[in-house]
Amino acid sequence: MNNSIEIKENIYWIGVNDRRTHIFENYWPLPKGVAYNSYVIVDEKVVVIDTVERSRMDDYIDNLQAVLKGRTVDYLIINHMEPDHSGAIKTLLCHYPEITILGNSKTFPMLQNYYNVNVPLLEVKEGDTLNIGHHTLSFHLVPMLHWPETMVTYLNDEHILFSGDVFGAFGTLDGGIFDDQVDLDYLEEEISRYYSNIVGKYGVPAQTALKKLSPLRIDMICATHGPIWRTHIADIVAKYDKWSRYDTDEGVVIAFSSMYGHTEQMADVIARFLAEQGIKKIRIHDTSKTHPSYIINDIFRYQGVILGSCAYNGGIFPTMETLLNELENMGIKNHYLGYFGNKTWGGGAIPHFKAFAEKMKWEVVAEPNEAAGAMKPSDIEQCKAIATAMVEKLRS
Ligand code: FEO
Repeated sequence: MNNSIEIKENIYWIGVNDRRTHIFENYWPLPKGVAYNSYVIVDEKVVVIDTVERSRMDDYIDNLQAVLKGRTVDYLIINHMEPDHSGAIKTLLCHYPEITILGNSKTFPMLQNYYNVNVPLLEVKEGDTLNIGHHTLSFHLVPMLHWPETMVTYLNDEHILFSGDVFGAFGTLDGGIFDDQVDLDYLEEEISRYYSNIVGKYGVPAQTALKKLSPLRIDMICATHGPIWRTHIADIVAKYDKWSRYDTDEGVVIAFSSMYGHTEQMADVIARFLAEQGIKKIRIHDTSKTHPSYIINDIFRYQGVILGSCAYNGGIFPTMETLLNELENMGIKNHYLGYFGNKTWGGGAIPHFKAFAEKMKWEVVAEPNEAAGAMKPSDIEQCKAIATAMVEKLRS
């Protein structure tokens, strides 16, 4: 079935939806699926920009052939080598062996390591251009968004930015492909989760890229995932700016690990004290139930973080340890931290939280509390002190 869509005269979306894969990069949940967007420009030369993940190969080639009506592909531009976009390269080369692959100096070693291709390669540098007939493309390197070889391609006369993963989103394209054709409220969490989970570690490169791209007039953003932006461009750019500056809203994320409920009780008590002091954005997550993807996403939204864990084999509970590792790996900045534990005999979680706070350079708002089983009046007082100190910091 031909599922290509003309997005501008002679410029086509030839992406595919993936509703079967449960976890992206074999790690991040995909409750609403994901789209792999590829694009083709039909001019005197035919240019394909990025491909798709290899499990959707037949649909992809069908879409491309329907657009080309017998013509061949002259250039493949690789903005990003991750296999959800480079997965169709070998198949593409089987169908179009005369192709020239265009990338930068960081692209080609990866290309050889992954696919060992033997076709002409055209290396571009920052600001280089390629004339393909009526259109001219320019290339802009945005390293570490989120891999070192990442770049974006700009169609100068149409003012279209082919942005790779940048401005992408989880979620399939269910009929509509433009931002004004889809339910952005439905996709909101998938847009922010894509940023926080995939790009979030690279706030500084994101800021550098936004500054580099700011002189360009952009009428359309064609990312490799999610909707094509043409109506809400300023909104998505502002979101990326906010997220990559680690700018957050007033609110508190409470994540806890609890075996039999005592630590969860502490989380609830703290949440109640927060609410009594006017905090409305309170998000409580059980680390045994909720994937770090969602907790990380909320931490990108709200400045306050309160973590609690029961002791487990003399240490911290495994799912909380996983969350701490993820947060350390991402290096999220600018948060206030409170923490608490619960023990039956020797304790275990508190030193882990202390070390975590030091690594993250998050300001600890109050002395931690470590209860022993059910909360005593003194534990309730200490939990109240954590909540009160958090509120004061958030409003300072
Ligand atoms: Fe969508 Fe980094 O690949």
